Parts: sequence; structure tokens; C-alpha cells
Amino acid sequence: MNKKPSVSNTASELTAKPDTAGGLSLVDKRALPRALRNYLALQDFIDHARKVLPRPIYGYVTGGVENNISLRGNREVFDEIGFVPKPLVDTTQRSMKTELFGKTYSAPFGFAPMGGTSIATYQGDLVLARAAEAANIPMMMSGASLMKMEEVRAASNNTMFQAYLPGDEDRISETFERAAAAGFETIAVTVDVAVAANRENNVRAGFNNPLRPTPRLAWDCLLKPKWLFGMFLKTLIKDGMPHVENMGPRAPLISKTALRSYGRRDRLTWKHIAHMRKIWKGNLLLKGVLHKDVVRMAREHGLNGIMVSNHGGRQLDGTVSPLRVLPGLREAAGDMTLIMDGGFRRGTDILKALALGADFCFIGRPFLCAAAVAGQVGVEHAVKLLMDEIDRDMAMLGINGPTEMSREFLMPATGAGFLQY
Ligand code: GLV
Repeated sequence: MNKKPSVSNTASELTAKPDTAGGLSLVDKRALPRALRNYLALQDFIDHARKVLPRPIYGYVTGGVENNISLRGNREVFDEIGFVPKPLVDTTQRSMKTELFGKTYSAPFGFAPMGGTSIATYQGDLVLARAAEAANIPMMMSGASLMKMEEVRAASNNTMFQAYLPGDEDRISETFERAAAAGFETIAVTVDVAVAANRENNVRAGFNNPLRPTPRLAWDCLLKPKWLFGMFLKTLIKDGMPHVENMGPRAPLISKTALRSYGRRDRLTWKHIAHMRKIWKGNLLLKGVLHKDVVRMAREHGLNGIMVSNHGGRQLDGTVSPLRVLPGLREAAGDMTLIMDGGFRRGTDILKALALGADFCFIGRPFLCAAAVAGQVGVEHAVKLLMDEIDRDMAMLGINGPTEMSREFLMPATGAGFLQY
């Protein structure tokens, strides 16, 4: 399981093969590098990443905030919903192709923005961008990334940009102009970060932003040679000390004294969103929205979409799972695009979100962990596993495409809700 994969198959190179149940599978197990054969589901990548990533980095990536109520809630809510399949439908022509902002992707999911991507693996943002290109799914790069937005955008037309912005028109204009010059067509502005979250778990795991060079950090890194040589030393030798590249003053990944400067994000208001709408001709999204009024206001401001999200349970602990508010937000959004992130691990999770009003789903941690354990080939394998699940689930539910998912296929999995059936 630890060995480096030797064969590189992209999702597009592999033709679907009949699996043992008579369905079609993108994962040809015989062609799969031995190192990947034991990864059978997205959670396997997260579990294995613990063995590869230094404790502070693994803690940062997988952690939530305070009591992790939202982090747990994002997963638990999926189990509260059961399926009511409708068999005896010809699903031989089924396809999970899904449209987002005028482009047709091969699946209804993409990579969510994660600032830790290039801390977890060498040029992690490029790894995800190339995997997104190969699999024909979207990838949103994080504004907190350690790679320049221009470089990531150049790797794939499927890339989008997520921005962290203070209430400061000059800084907003600067970021938008740079993103436009880089060729981005879609920007999501994260609005659930008025102030930094209380990430006690990061402190306990030894993670700081920037990382502080301590004997403990050195020891944690020495214990993970794959990361130390394959990511950290390789980055230092080839590219120098990584910096936060797309978000105000450049800050190094490791420093004894440097402080990150975020600007006054608690000053960001609708006035700034109106300014963004005026200067940005591409798709403009708000990320980190759960409240109906915000969706209504976003429509009034002419925005193109909402990313329904509680930041992977990493900001205000106790914030409800985005899945719980989806039906209400769908009503408020009208035909405005709704993308959801938070807690997706299975094809069934995605289909539940689509049934409740999401147009598209973004997934973060599992793909970052796949990049950390096996690079691009690992990410592409993870994508194929998830696509296989969705394909199988659609056949068993009796639908031919993601847009056929509706409330009629769902009911409460627990409690007495079934009495209403
Ligand atoms: C960055 O978005 C983080 O949640 O750490």
C-alpha cells in the first residue's frame, strides 16, 4: 500500500469494463497499480494520509473547530436520509454528465478549494488541476494556496478561483484584475471568515500559520520521510520556501516571526459585493452561505451562484450542515446555481444533495489526501471510485442522469417520518 504507483491511467484513458455485478466500471482492477488496489472508497485515502503526513499537517487538513460539532454533523446528516428506489426502468443509457456554468463535466462533482493542498503534497494545486483536467471535472483553487494562481490556471481550463477578501475595494480590485489576467472565468468569494476561527485542534496538533520552526515540528516531519523528501525538501530545493501567493502580502510557510495579514474581513459587506459585481464580468459566487436572506440578496445583486457550505466545519462550530438548508435555499435561489460542499464521501451522499436542490457538489479533504498518498494517479483513482459509485447508485435507483434525482427517492432513514409515506 505504501509503494509508489508505477502506472498512470487517467480517467479518460480507461474504458469502462464490465464489473462482476454486470455493471460498468471505470476502475479496471487488473490495470491498477498495486499501490492503489487497497483504496476502495474515499475514506481510505483520508485514513492512509495519517501515515504519510506530519501530525500538524494531518491535523490541519482533517480537523474542524472547537468541539467539531459541524464537522461531525456534515457526515451524520447523510445517514438520516434513506433512499426509496424505483426499479424496472431502463437505465442502460445513464450518464452522470452534468452542466455547470455552461460547461459539461463528466460528473456532478469537483474539487473544493483547500489552502493546505500544496502543503500536503508537492505542487498539490497543480496535481489537483491536472487530475481535474484528465477527469473533466472542475477544480476550485484556494485563495490561501501556496502556488501562484497563474500557474494553476494554466494547468487546466477547469480551474476556478476562490478568494478571501477584506472589506477593502483596492484589495478586491487588485485580486479580481489579477484573476482576470490569469484567465479565470469563475470566482467564489468566501463570506464565512469574518474573523479567524478558534482552531484549538491546530494548536494541539502543532499547526501554526505560518508554521513555527520548533524541535517538535522537526521531529514530526522526520517521522514522515515520504512527505519530508517528496514534498518539503523537494519544494525547498526546486522552488524555494513556499509562500501564500494570492492573498495580500506574501507570507512564508515556515517562519519564526512572520504574521499573516488578512485585512479587515469583518468589514466586508454587500457594498463590496456590489463593487465586485461591477468589475467582474465572469461568474461570481458567494461561498459559505447557509441563510436564505443571503441567497435572496445574492440574486438581487446579480450573482451567478452560491456555494452552500459551512467551510467543512472549520469556522463557526455548531453551524448546521449545508444539506439541512438546501431545500430552503433552493426555493430562495430560483434558477441561480447552488453548489454544496461538506461531508461528501460516497456517491449516495452526492445523489442525496442533488435530490435536495444542489446543482453540483464539491469535495475537499478526500482528494487532498489522495494527492498526499499517491499524487495525481491517486486523485484520478479516487475520482473513478466515486464515479463508479454514482453510476451504480443511479442504476439501482432507476434514474438515467443526476437531474432526475428528486425528493420522491428520499425519506427519513430514522424516526417515524415513514408514517407519512
Ligand atoms: C482554509 O480555508 C481553512 O479552512 O483552513
